[in-house]
Amino acid sequence: MNSQKEKSKAFTSIILAAGKGTRMASPLPKVLHPVAGQPMILNVIEACRSAGAHEIRVVCGHGLTLVKNVIESSDVKVFVQAQQLGTADAVKSAHIDSLEGIVMILNGDHPLITAQDLLPFVEEFEKQNLDLAVVTCKLKNPKEFGRIVRYHGQLAAIVEAKDASADTLKINEVNTGIYIAKAETLKEYLPQIKNLNSKGEFYLTDILGLALTNRDKVGALVGHSRVAFGVNTQAELSQATQFVFKRKVKSLQEKGVIVIDPKSTYIEESVQVGPGSVIYPGVFIKGRTQIGSFTVLEPQVFILDSIIGDSVQIRAGSYIEKSEVSSKCWVGPYARLRPNTHLGEEAHVGNFVELKKVKFGKRSKAGHLTYLGDAEVGEDVNIGCGTITCNYAVDKKKYKTLIGNRVFVGSDTQFVAPLQVGDDAVIGSGSTITKDVPAKALAVARGKQVIKENYVKAQPPTDKED
Ligand code: UD1
Ligand code: MG
Repeated sequence: MNSQKEKSKAFTSIILAAGKGTRMASPLPKVLHPVAGQPMILNVIEACRSAGAHEIRVVCGHGLTLVKNVIESSDVKVFVQAQQLGTADAVKSAHIDSLEGIVMILNGDHPLITAQDLLPFVEEFEKQNLDLAVVTCKLKNPKEFGRIVRYHGQLAAIVEAKDASADTLKINEVNTGIYIAKAETLKEYLPQIKNLNSKGEFYLTDILGLALTNRDKVGALVGHSRVAFGVNTQAELSQATQFVFKRKVKSLQEKGVIVIDPKSTYIEESVQVGPGSVIYPGVFIKGRTQIGSFTVLEPQVFILDSIIGDSVQIRAGSYIEKSEVSSKCWVGPYARLRPNTHLGEEAHVGNFVELKKVKFGKRSKAGHLTYLGDAEVGEDVNIGCGTITCNYAVDKKKYKTLIGNRVFVGSDTQFVAPLQVGDDAVIGSGSTITKDVPAKALAVARGKQVIKENYVKAQPPTDKED
């Protein structure tokens, strides 16, 4: 792939993203709708960049501020199309006078395009020394796509569905909306395009007729139907997401990940999973998550931006965010790791345990029904069932609980932070600990048991009617 990239010249991409996306019926600009977790415009930007685009220009309009915020950090140049007067006008808005070399134009709402799709088009464009190329594909149901009209096999025109005759509508080769052109070709013809069509818009597709009339070298490059897939409705958005999830599962399977039911497995592109790991149905993994090898994720596990080591067992229904779980840990079922939690190797966090901002040492255990927040727990510690760190005080500040190594915490203990418990200390069950506990000490802080003998007096039998 790299060698392919080296062979073709660098090019400039112009991504059209000013449209309103009315059919999405959503207040969010269309190109910001997420496909498998990523705003779709970022997929297109990434595809262009990995295919070798040295400059990416994005034409924005509708929802300008929001779109700008999302794409600004992707090293693109933003251009504004004040009024959406059509695709030709959109391209003109990208300051075409300053363009040089090869230019690729694509739509911001085609999120399934990959660099591997784009590279052959650039190569073919150069090989045939074309002035203008339109990328086409064949579709079973071409719906509203512009139809590719050929005369004796040669490209003759693109006719928009709305302007097409019944016969033209039968053509199943369509315009994918991707074009490659020499910068000079764009500079020459774009200003000549008129808006004489049913929509009264300046159609980019009209550039073809102008170039053909001038006997420029014009070609159709046939691509995969995937590149034509555009998102216009919420239904198409979910189709795109399903496609990306499916593709991700396939690529993980090829690397030795065991996926029990690909249809109900949701793993974003950015996620890494090591070979030999097992993924049960209903697992959702997002963001910059990395999962090691031979790790098992049981049903309905949700993981966001986390690092999970090798040979970890995440049991059913666990929810993990921005945390780190070292190798051989055992988490869940139904555990919650909130941001900034770090589990040392072989730690065990069991059912209905919530950890927030916790450094939890190697081989330590919190088996059941526990809340630890803003805490550091040493190695080989046992946290009994029902333990709570009372980290949030009436002054609305958070305080820390520091627990040393090999501490034994009996069940139903409350630590009222700030607190420090030394190594090897023992906390008696049911204690409310409010003062520091020295190393090796026993701390018990609970009401004393009182026994009143014969408290319940023998009662005479009653004559109850049944
Ligand atoms: C366009 C093509 C059609 C092709 C189809 C592929 C034209 C006239 N038609 O039709 O042949 O089959 O794409 O998807 O080009 N945009 C702007 N500013 C505008 C208008 C559009 O930025 O003033 C952007 C949109 O946000 C979108 C892209 O250009 O990303 C395509 O526009 P759209 O209106 O969806 O064109 P189609 O009708 O799909
Ligand atoms: Mg469209």
